[in-house]
Amino acid sequence: MEPTVIEKAPRTPETIRVMEERHSVRAYEPGIAMPREDLDAILRAAGTAPSSWNLQPWKFLAIEDAALREKLLPIANHQRQVVESSAVVAVLGDLEGHRNAELVYGERVKSGAMSAEIKDTLVGQVERAYGSGTFARDEAFLNGGFAAMQLMLAAKALGYETCPMGGFRKDAFIEAFRVPERYVPLLLISIGKPAKAAHPSTRFPLEETVVRDTF
Ligand SMILES: Cc1cc2nc3c(=O)[nH]c(=O)nc-3n(C[C@H](O)[C@H](O)[C@H](O)COP(=O)(O)O)c2cc1C
Repeated sequence: MEPTVIEKAPRTPETIRVMEERHSVRAYEPGIAMPREDLDAILRAAGTAPSSWNLQPWKFLAIEDAALREKLLPIANHQRQVVESSAVVAVLGDLEGHRNAELVYGERVKSGAMSAEIKDTLVGQVERAYGSGTFARDEAFLNGGFAAMQLMLAAKALGYETCPMGGFRKDAFIEAFRVPERYVPLLLISIGKPAKAAHPSTRFPLEETVVRDTF
């Protein structure tokens, strides 16, 4: 049967505008402290990201303290945004996301939204999956990436600019910030008010990035 062709979806200008206007800003107005409410709103929005089994295998290490950011500077290859922005959030992936299963589903059982049997089945599935190969690490990176993206979009929507940074020494970061073994550093994200606009950046057209139906 031929599918029904529906009306073109209405554009959602606000969300898409935020995506299109987000760029990596590397020069910030120094000495601007963010209201705690704004930082928390951004972190809360980041945490609304979807995750496998809703395990939320991430942790946000929010670094505002100036001395700590000076300490971070050489670890982040002297990228000035680390000290000139208002805050840096290190997005960490949780290598033991399976440990969240009891908590997440326990709440649902308590509220009557899930039966105890379903909870046990899900916890069993999660435990088995996390026990195999590189699964935990893959999940930490995949799910943490969603949270990181949401963090940057939320910051942009609230009038801040960001820069994601993979260019930092992970081992040195773990040591300096006493990151427990359970977590793997994924990305640093600077957040602040821009001193200079981002460098222009381009994207491949759909012809380059999309394959329709099959290769
Ligand atoms: C995983 C990842 C790592 C990145 N690492 C750095 C970095 O260490 N330093 C930096 O200045 N930009 C970094 N970027 C930003 C990219 O250079 C930038 O997103 C890309 O050039 C596109 O530009 P735009 O974000 O301004 O649109 C990183 C981006 C991603 C997604």
